[in-house]
This record gives sequence, C-alpha cells and structure tokens, in this order.
Amino acid sequence: MILGLETSCDETAAAVVTDSGEILANVVSSQAELHAKYGGVVPEVASRRHLELVTPVLREALDEAGVGLDRVERIAVTQGPGLIGALLVGLSAAKALAWARRLPLAPVNHLHGHVASLFLRPDPLEPPFLCLLASGGHTLLLDVQEHGGFAVLGTTLDDAAGEAFDKGARLLGLGYPGGAAIDRLAREGDPEAFAFPIARVPGLDFSFSGLKTALLYKVRELGANELERRRADLAASYQRAIVGALVERAEVAAEQIGAGRIAVVGGVAANSELRAALPGAALAPLELCTDNAAMIASAGRYVEVIPFARYLALDAYASTAA
Ligand code: KG4
Ligand code: ZN
Repeated sequence: MILGLETSCDETAAAVVTDSGEILANVVSSQAELHAKYGGVVPEVASRRHLELVTPVLREALDEAGVGLDRVERIAVTQGPGLIGALLVGLSAAKALAWARRLPLAPVNHLHGHVASLFLRPDPLEPPFLCLLASGGHTLLLDVQEHGGFAVLGTTLDDAAGEAFDKGARLLGLGYPGGAAIDRLAREGDPEAFAFPIARVPGLDFSFSGLKTALLYKVRELGANELERRRADLAASYQRAIVGALVERAEVAAEQIGAGRIAVVGGVAANSELRAALPGAALAPLELCTDNAAMIASAGRYVEVIPFARYLALDAYASTAA
C-alpha cells in the first residue's frame, strides 16, 4: 500500500495506490480559483494554501480508501521540479508521516509521475513507448524503455504547451487556467479561420512563443467588437496550431526511435482535439492528466526508496537540472 502526495504547483493531492497499481483513493483539491484573480499561480499563496489543505486532503484519501495509516507501507512524494515552497509543504508532510510510522520514503520526480500515470490499472501500459508529456510547465518527448525512467528526446525552447494555452486564453479573455476553456470554445469555431504559424525549430524541440505573439497581434488588429465575434474561430485556430505541432513532432520522434506506440500524458493530454488527433495512442485517463497524487504513488513503485530516518534532511528541487 503506497500513500502518494503531490504539492508541486496549485493542486494539493493525496492518493492511495496498491503495489499492483490499483487506485484506492485519488483526492485532488485545486487552488485554481484562488489564483484566478491574479491571472496565474502566486507561489507564496500556493504554499500557504497547501499548508492548510495537506492534512484534510490526506485524511480524505485514507478515509476514501478505507485504509488506516497502519496499513501504509511506503510514502511517495513529489520532490521536484515545481514551486519550491509548495514542494516543501508536501515533502515535510511526507517526512513527518514516514518518520512517525517508521516507513521508507520514495522521492518522486514530477515528470516521472506524469509518465507513471500510464502504469495504473485497469489498463496499465508496458514500456517501451514514445511519450509526449505536455503540461503547464513542460513539453517533452520521452523515450520510455522501462517503468523507472526515460531519456529526453526533445523539449520546448520557450513556453510549454499548457503555458501557450493559458497565455492564449488570457489574450482571448477566457481567464486562468485557460486550456480547458479554449478546448470548449474551439468546438464552436472554425480551426481554419486563421493561419497561425508554428515555428519549426530543428530536431525534436518545440517553440510556442511566436504563436502567442501572433495571437496577440491578431487580437489587436481585430479590435474589441470583432474579437467578440471571432473568439471561437480564434480559439479553434490557435488550438489547431498547438495540437498540430505536438502531433507532428511526436510522430517524427516515434519513427526516429522505432517506437511502436505513442503515449500522451500531462494536463494538455486532456485536450479533446489532441486526443482525437492521435487515435492509436495510449492516452492517460482524463482524471490522471492534470496533477494528481495517484501518478506520484504509481511512480513511487519504481524509484529507489530511502529507508526510515535517512530522509529527514532530504531537500526539494525547483528545476530538473538538479
Ligand atoms: O499537468 P498539469 O496539471 O500541471 C503541470 O504539471 O504543469 O497541467 C496543467 C496545464 C495547464 O496549462 C492547463 O491549461 C492545461 O494543462 N490543460 C489543458 C486542458 N486541460 C488542462 N490544455 C488544453 N486542453 C485542455 N482540455
Ligand atoms: Zn504536472
């Protein structure tokens, strides 16, 4: 029995997962509304909210699973990358729990967590596969040869795909976070109404900042009234450009490494156009696309655990370079 904890950004999440990958509870408390009025996540506000929520969310997960702390055998927690203050709240809670129960601690890389969302029941995916990880913080093409790790084939040179969605949503006046809002509005629009350019950088990398600038200019050019009238067309065309870039690069990468299977994970994997564009792909279940602790507990099955008491000085890390 593994208890997972995730607090790297603006979701406070706890989950109970069995060693075979069955989810017994997966509780996510999103702070999105709290940050919406600022147009993005405010790190210190997030840390304080995690502090308030971490205990009730943990309790709820254990209650829902019908599992007492005495039955938990391992604590898995996101160590990084993410907002350092937010990470420290989850890491401290995990250390306290593990220490009190004399349990081992599994420090999890958040990105590995997203990949491990594919290893859960009822349909666990077996490596090898090519994985597109697209979230608010990352856009990565990964060669996944084993459950416990991956090699990075490509990344974004500027904005992440989710960030491009969020910035686009803001320009269109759709609020924060905006990926899901663009997704909804795009269904009513014409994806070919506007031609948004996608930078073709060499290799398997991505670039989304030019796209965002193109939308900004288009919004200015149209003016307030026209923007109102064409908002759905703009959303559809903008989304088409992002999805097109993701699909094209994922397919090229899969071919390059001879992968028989493409998988998609991360918050942007919830996008309906992206899901439809890759019909043969293994798609993370919708509830496991955005940040959650079930994926962290899942990854916690494949990392080297730190035995009791040796983790007390363990630190969080903000970026993957660490
Ligand atoms: O994985 P995630 O919860 O957090 C990070 O690790 O970053 O991803 C959040 C991102 C946000 O940028 C959000 O706008 C985007 O995922 N997102 C979507 C959709 N749902 C969430 N983007 C496009 N379409 C969606 N349906
Ligand atoms: Zn994430």
